[in-house]
Formats: sequence, C-alpha cells, structure tokens
Amino acid sequence: MPDVSPTKWHLAHTTWFFETFILKKFVPGYRAEIPEYAYLFNSYYNAAGDMHRRDLRGLISRPTVSQAQRYRASVDSHIDDLLSSCDESLLDEIEPILVLGIHHEQQHQELLITDIKHVFAQNPLYPVFRELKTGGRSSARPGSQSSPLHFIDFEEAVTEIGHNGEGFAYDNEGPRHRALVPAFSLATRPVTNGEYIAFVEDNGYSRPEFWLSLGLMTVNEQRWNAPLYWTERDGAWWNFTLSGLRPVDQSEPVTHISYFEADAYANWAGARLPTEFEWERAALSCPMEGNFVESELFHPVAAFASSAGALAKAVISPEKPEQHRHLVQMFGDVWEWTRSAYSPYPGYRAAPGALGEYNGKFMCNQYVLRGGSCATSRTHIRRTYRNFFQPEKRWQFNGIRLARDPE
Ligand SMILES: [Fe+2]
Repeated sequence: MPDVSPTKWHLAHTTWFFETFILKKFVPGYRAEIPEYAYLFNSYYNAAGDMHRRDLRGLISRPTVSQAQRYRASVDSHIDDLLSSCDESLLDEIEPILVLGIHHEQQHQELLITDIKHVFAQNPLYPVFRELKTGGRSSARPGSQSSPLHFIDFEEAVTEIGHNGEGFAYDNEGPRHRALVPAFSLATRPVTNGEYIAFVEDNGYSRPEFWLSLGLMTVNEQRWNAPLYWTERDGAWWNFTLSGLRPVDQSEPVTHISYFEADAYANWAGARLPTEFEWERAALSCPMEGNFVESELFHPVAAFASSAGALAKAVISPEKPEQHRHLVQMFGDVWEWTRSAYSPYPGYRAAPGALGEYNGKFMCNQYVLRGGSCATSRTHIRRTYRNFFQPEKRWQFNGIRLARDPE
C-alpha cells in the first residue's frame, strides 16, 4: 500500500530529519557516515535533495533493522555532542528545529502503529500486535448498548481560531484569527459501529443520493461495502484490530473510513460533518482527555466504557442520563473528519527553505481531521491541531462526529 512505510523506514527517516536539518547545518565539517541514507530516508523534502520512491519503500532490504538502529544511535550521539558544546545563541537557533523534530517523530510513532496494522491485516493469520486488555474496553460485546446520541446547540459567535503561541504548534495552526461561526449543533459522541451498520444494511454504499461524485466513483472502483478491515462471515461483521480478528462491537466508534464514507453517512443520517471551526469552538470547553496511545488499547472504545486512569473522565455512565448531554470523546479514540478543506489560515506563509515543505505544500485536495486517535500521543495533540488526509484515505483511525444546522 503506497501510504504505508516499513517500521525500519520510520526509524531511519525520523533520524534523517535530525541529521539533515540540525547536524548538517550546525556541525562544521559534519560528514554523514553513509551518504546514501539521505536518498533512502528523505520523505518529501525536495529542497533537501532527491529521494527514494514512497511506494517502493517496502523494497528497501538494506540497511537492516540493526543497521538502522546503529544509524539512530550515531545521530543521537552527535546531537548530544552538539547540544553540550554549543553556546546560547546557537542553542536558540537549534531549539525550534529540535522541538519540531521531536513532534515529527511523534507523528511517525502514530504511523508506525497504523502501518503495522495495515501490514498485519493482509495476513490471513491475523497476527496479534497486542493482546486484548480486559477492563479497559467495553469488553467487546457485539450488540452491546451505546450511549444515546444527542446534539448540543451552539449560538452564532465570532471565535478565535488557531494557536495562541504558548508552547509548540505546527505552522499550519496559525495565524490565530477571528472567524464567524454561525449557529450549529454538534453530536455528543462519535458515530458507533452499530449506527454505521444500519447505514450499510440500508444499502448506503449503493445509493447515489448520499454520495459525492468522486466518492461514489471510489466506492465502485475499490468495491467498498464497509469500513476498511471489516469482513462479513455468516451474516456477522468482524473487524481486524491490533488484537486480532474480532466481532465488530456495535458500541465502539466506527473507524477506518474515508471522508467520502463519513460524508455519505452524515447525509444518510440527515446531518452533516462539522467544519473545523465549529469543532475547534466546541472543543474549547472539553478536557483534553481520552483514549490515546498511552492507554495502549490501540483501538477506539465505546463512549460509556469505564476504566481507570486516563479514560475515566472522558467517558460517560449509562446510569446518568444528564451526562449524555455533554460532548465526550472529542479527543483520542478516532480522528474526526471535518468538512473543511485543508487550506491556509488568513495570513499563513510557509517558512522559507526545506522545512517550509513540512505542511504548507499539502494544502490542496485534502480535508482536516481533529482530535487525535487511539494511536496519537496525549502529549502530541492540541485543540488547534489540524491533521489532514486525502478524502479516500482509510488506514488511519478516522471516524465521524455529526453536526447539524439549526432547525
Ligand atoms: Fe516525516
């Protein structure tokens, strides 16, 4: 699959980032031990030189894993030497690139998980990445009850959108600016598997009235009839998870769907996807807690699932109806597709040089997703964080939260 990279490549590429943008720039006379790595492990930075083809990364049999690990150790030790020997003003210059490199590595840690899942899913042995944790989940009961879906109303408001400059943010989260957000309603929780099955069983995939033209074309070309990793056996839906092949739990948030499917589902449900501004406004009042990668579930959980630790405050109890009127799971579990095209905020300019290629050049033909997933690090996400993918991509933990216009 052209979007999926081998684990070894992620390990070497995140190291290449530090070598290219810090060591080669700030260490006088620095010479790469293996110059060819610059070609193999450059992802998409044209200003940094030629690169290996993304869709052929699976063919890189050399370096081996242990050679890639040696590369990491070598670059780490050069970075250590640089940081312990450079003066304050040089350190000021290096710091933002170093911090960007660390956040970049966190993004690849998420990709490591989704890419391993995709590779394992091709194998009829359905390898288990991590045994199912009991107690942390909704115990994976197919057909178990989900919390009722409600909509919360928001009044029209002029809202500050974008990062306020405190701490790290990617350049695409700014400049902070004011946006008029007309009145809207937002669903209290993401759409569940059970709700999505109703769409599937209502022949949702073959009813053109719900689909964007490009979406229906993709459905027909790819022969989609359910989310990625789902398979039907003897009339029941199963899905491949990082804990192996399991019956689809109707109460869990639906995931591994494209923008096209999210949009079609919303149309079928008489709703729509939120804009990223609506989402950001609503998220202002939500705690940034949820099922992130630190909980090591590697799978979204049902909204009412109860467990200790990080999940406890992010979930609602089926016994307390008033709690169902709050937004839950805005963070973690599944990235939420918005209907906003990934485009620059007013006044945005990509930085000069190769690092300016990090975000800005992708602002075309992609949609924004918000909130992070069960594969995202808690320390990586922000209310202003803008993830983005092309509308046909399904291998990330992407899901749906519905919105509505006022009656
Ligand atoms: Fe990268």
